[in-house]
Amino acid sequence: MRALIVEKDDEGKTSASVQDITEDRLPEAEVTVAVEYSTVNYKDGLCIGPGGGLVRNYPHVPGIDFAGTVEASGDDRYKPGDKVVLTGWRVGEAHWGGYAEKARVKADWLVPLPDGLTTRQAMAVGTAGFTAMLAVMALEAQGMKKDHGPVLVTGAAGGVGSVATAILAHLGYEVAGVTGRPETVDYLKDLGATQIVAREEINETVKRPLEGETWAGCVDAVGGAMLARVLGQMKYGASVAAVGLAGGAALPATVIPFLLRGVNLLGIDSVMQPYVNRVEAWKRIATDLPMDKLEAMVQPATLADLPQLGSDILKGQVKGRVVVDITA
Ligand SMILES: NC(=O)c1ccc[n+]([C@@H]2O[C@H](COP(=O)([O-])OP(=O)(O)OC[C@H]3O[C@@H](n4cnc5c(N)ncnc54)[C@H](OP(=O)(O)O)[C@@H]3O)[C@@H](O)[C@H]2O)c1
Repeated sequence: MRALIVEKDDEGKTSASVQDITEDRLPEAEVTVAVEYSTVNYKDGLCIGPGGGLVRNYPHVPGIDFAGTVEASGDDRYKPGDKVVLTGWRVGEAHWGGYAEKARVKADWLVPLPDGLTTRQAMAVGTAGFTAMLAVMALEAQGMKKDHGPVLVTGAAGGVGSVATAILAHLGYEVAGVTGRPETVDYLKDLGATQIVAREEINETVKRPLEGETWAGCVDAVGGAMLARVLGQMKYGASVAAVGLAGGAALPATVIPFLLRGVNLLGIDSVMQPYVNRVEAWKRIATDLPMDKLEAMVQPATLADLPQLGSDILKGQVKGRVVVDITA
């Protein structure tokens, strides 16, 4: 089978290449999946390249998510022929991942592909889109409503941001997208954003902890100074779903928006998310994400493209969602 293998030399330098390997190198686990599609996330960029402290052992097969067909199963929940999707559980980081024609994983980590989605569409969604759905669900659970005003999506032209924009617009929310790439404005409007905020307008820290009450909710893929700034622009009682750190992990904020405006900061983790929530999120994706909008985000790729794409995503240069056809 073909796989993208990352190796580390004696000086600690990593290199990634597509290799033919034998199936006996697959790890021990209950379910063997013939992988059809995978994708490229920020974490994949780290695991294809420098590792970012995520990879435990080399040689390593990255790929933090995949979709495919069960080939063999030692667990009653799955049988050969079942279509499945996997995100999280440190697959592709601590465990061998989806950038190979076959993967072997724990049955607990899999989710049956929901009706109405193909394996390719599932990976057009991928971890980024799945996490965007979790963020929207968390905001809804916290009381976000369509008539409360515009919802902000930061890092809008990235993977999480693109899917969040399309889902929110489809659900009838007014969506404002923050982007640092003016060339993506038409793309974001096609996904349903009605307002575009330039990154530099909202990236700067201000001395005032509170600004005008503007946003009824926020899906934040950026973190850092932008998240700190956004907290001070939230409407009374509104919530921000903190998903990512594309702009930095530090949070140079004050507690004033929490104390004087009852703003909520909701943490979103896709990796260890319980099974019932995963099933619910994938069902919602199948109903709430318009498939024509999803297709408009897709950039197709093969295993051989991954070293370059891994480096691009670390520089914030990937637009929308990459779908890797593992069999191509
Ligand atoms: N919590 C979880 O479970 C979870 C799951 C998936 C992803 N994540 C995290 O979420 C983040 C986004 O993931 P993704 O897959 O959407 O990545 P992505 O496709 O690279 O998107 C990130 C976007 O953030 C913006 N951005 C990049 N660098 C920036 C900077 N220095 N300042 C401000 N904005 C910047 C860019 O959007 P524009 O070009 O539009 O400005 C970029 O497209 C990552 O940090 C990722 O690790 C977390």
